[in-house]
Amino acid sequence: MNATGFGAANGKIILMGEHAVVYGEPAIALPFSAVQLSAEVTASQAWQIDSVYHQGLLADAPHHLENIKQLVQELAAAWHLTPLTIKITSTIPPERGMGSSAATAVAVTRALADAVGHALTTTELQKWVAIAEKIAHGNPSGIDAAATSGLNPIYFIKGEPLTAFPMNLSHGILVVADTGIKGQTRGAVKDVAHLFETTKKATAQAITTLGHLAKASREAILADDLDALGATMDQAQTLLKQLTVSNQSLDELVATAKVQGALGAKLTGGGRGGCMIALAPDQQTADKIQQALATKAAATWQFNLGGDTHEG
Ligand code: MEV
Repeated sequence: MNATGFGAANGKIILMGEHAVVYGEPAIALPFSAVQLSAEVTASQAWQIDSVYHQGLLADAPHHLENIKQLVQELAAAWHLTPLTIKITSTIPPERGMGSSAATAVAVTRALADAVGHALTTTELQKWVAIAEKIAHGNPSGIDAAATSGLNPIYFIKGEPLTAFPMNLSHGILVVADTGIKGQTRGAVKDVAHLFETTKKATAQAITTLGHLAKASREAILADDLDALGATMDQAQTLLKQLTVSNQSLDELVATAKVQGALGAKLTGGGRGGCMIALAPDQQTADKIQQALATKAAATWQFNLGGDTHEG
């Protein structure tokens, strides 16, 4: 076993299909490298996890790494690891639907594999990460783990092999805004499940339609049709509101983006706080949307769908 190891992961943005993906519908997610997480391991007398999360967030959540401790325990048993200190450093705002928990599990698993000289396959990585994600999210689809561990946009269907998904867009910029409010993925996923039991027909219909919208947005991307992509985002937001996973702050940011010329806008990730995304046709409109959102949001970014990302 090496004395040291390193692993990294990106944040993620779900473009379409959150929540419905838990029920087997397709979803589209993008790795978001403007925010990242790394894990470094070094030999130690006893197991220890040190973490430095974005702006000290999570300092108020002393049990937030319980899922990672469980994962590490299982990895240590499987790979016969001797004690290590694990140092996690992250610029991903935690509990904002940007994949912080999945990225933590991905980076830690990669760092431990590196220390032990183990070549991880994608399937194996997803299996290990699922241990931590089940504890964090209750019933994860696996999309966060897949999006944060890869380098490319993904078209994800629970339990199916990942499909390569070329982003065919020649232009278009996503403006991402953080409400500054803790997202509640676990509670939101649970409440949608409850809704499914109590108002089965309407909820099943909303979930199926979200699946159709994810397929339609895939077609729009492949056809380089930004207007059509924006329209699917707006329709998705209406359905996500129906599923009770939006909130007032998200609705306000969505409305602000639309007034400034967004082609479409919606929450991203688990909802009930966390982040929203707005689609701009060009740089000028993206800057206008970002400026307006920045007056109300905790943080904003731009994600160029043609390529680069940069923080704003
Ligand atoms: C969370 O980023 C996405 C959800 O669909 C939950 C999941 O798929 O595990 C809300």
